[in-house]
Amino acid sequence: MKKPSFACTGCGAKYSKWTGRCESCGEWNSIEEEAALSASGPAKKTLGAKRGQAITLTGLDTKAAPLDRAQSGIGEFDRVLGGGLVPASAVLVGGDPGIGKSTLLLQATAAFANRGLGTVYISGEEATSQIGMRAKRLDLETAPVQLASESNLRDILTTLEKIKPDVVVIDSIQTMWVDHVDSAPGSVSQVRAVAHELVTFAKRRGVAVILVGHVTKEGQIAGPRVVEHMVDTVVYFEGERGHQFRILRAVKNRFGPADEIGVFEMTGKGLAEVTNPSALFLSERDQPAPGSAVFAGIEGTRPVLVEIQALVAQSPLGTPRRTVVGWDSGRLSMVLAVLDARCGVSFAGMDVYLNIAGGIRINEPAADLAVAAALLSAREDIALPRDAVLFGELSLSGALRPAAQAESRIKEAEKLGFSAAFTPKGTKGHASATFAVKTLSDLAEFIVEVFAQQKA
Ligand code: TYD
Ligand code: MG
Repeated sequence: MKKPSFACTGCGAKYSKWTGRCESCGEWNSIEEEAALSASGPAKKTLGAKRGQAITLTGLDTKAAPLDRAQSGIGEFDRVLGGGLVPASAVLVGGDPGIGKSTLLLQATAAFANRGLGTVYISGEEATSQIGMRAKRLDLETAPVQLASESNLRDILTTLEKIKPDVVVIDSIQTMWVDHVDSAPGSVSQVRAVAHELVTFAKRRGVAVILVGHVTKEGQIAGPRVVEHMVDTVVYFEGERGHQFRILRAVKNRFGPADEIGVFEMTGKGLAEVTNPSALFLSERDQPAPGSAVFAGIEGTRPVLVEIQALVAQSPLGTPRRTVVGWDSGRLSMVLAVLDARCGVSFAGMDVYLNIAGGIRINEPAADLAVAAALLSAREDIALPRDAVLFGELSLSGALRPAAQAESRIKEAEKLGFSAAFTPKGTKGHASATFAVKTLSDLAEFIVEVFAQQKA
């Protein structure tokens, strides 16, 4: 006799006996008995030997028409989805409470509706009158969006089956509940069941379903991570509180590139598109000052220039502070170590603060050179050449490695009025009469080039 086994429906942790609370993810009431595999030896009857129905198999050269994407006309939104919303797909929009998810999706649904698509917006959080008031403030009250305030998924699906819309927004997945699951809305099992029902509905009826999910403090969509695997596209709406910029970032997309971003600005009249993010991020730039460097980055398919700011100060503490906003702190430690070991520039005994201006988060290793430059500039109290951008990945030896899409980084810099770029050796990018491309083989060469003369 095999012992029964139990597993958490949220995180999948296995247990030999039932407990009320999963020790691994902390969720209550999420542990269920797993159906035991056959007790001994191979099963007598293999599944499907008789009962099942044969399914039709096809080749890879499917004749199906190319996906007919629906565009909202909000360019930044459409691009993050890979060029528009794919019918019969499920999209999860995650983000901190209050970041502007409901605002964005109300604007998007209104745009879809104005283009003749059947759109339904279901809110489990706000009354229809509240949404109506917001629509009025955004001048969207004439858009033919069908609205409801409801959280019972059975009623919602019955309604949707009847009216067969093209696009449905469910705001938010944490407020919805299905009556065959016996736990509170927002719990792991509810969220999972709700997502499953909605994704199945999307596929079966050819309806595009957009789910809103609040994010927990740890930055995960509350409830199970499982939801991310169930949907076709996962986008996060992010931004720093106190900044008006909002970034919509695709982290998973079955129908387009991941890592694509859309940039918005929260205004008194809702979210406005920012079609030239570089200009916006740099507009925050004060006079060129020590500790500031401009990184020519790539976000998704688009070049974006951002300012990297560093501050270095004598530390009163035994263990100096290393504070990073918008970049990886492990990566900062690496750059500091390379500066120390390969270039003889030590930051021991100094507090280091690193900040990416504008509230954007950078994940590219190509930012290494710009970060190193900002740190050096702050430490030496010497401003970098004001018309230059930088990019390049740093290896542990101190050598610089070429970055992808150098050409478009340089073009963007030129477009925004810069006249030089510091790049790794081997970068394919064309210098022109008005733009100089300075190639460097390692970080030490950069230090000599930029700081040696000025210090002398
Ligand atoms: P909301 O869309 O309700 O956030 P979420 O659905 O992600 O919880 O956005 C709420 C915030 O946006 C709120 O703090 C007010 C601000 N806001 C504006 O600044 N301008 C506007 O036009 C709107 C509608 C909201
Ligand atoms: Mg909301």
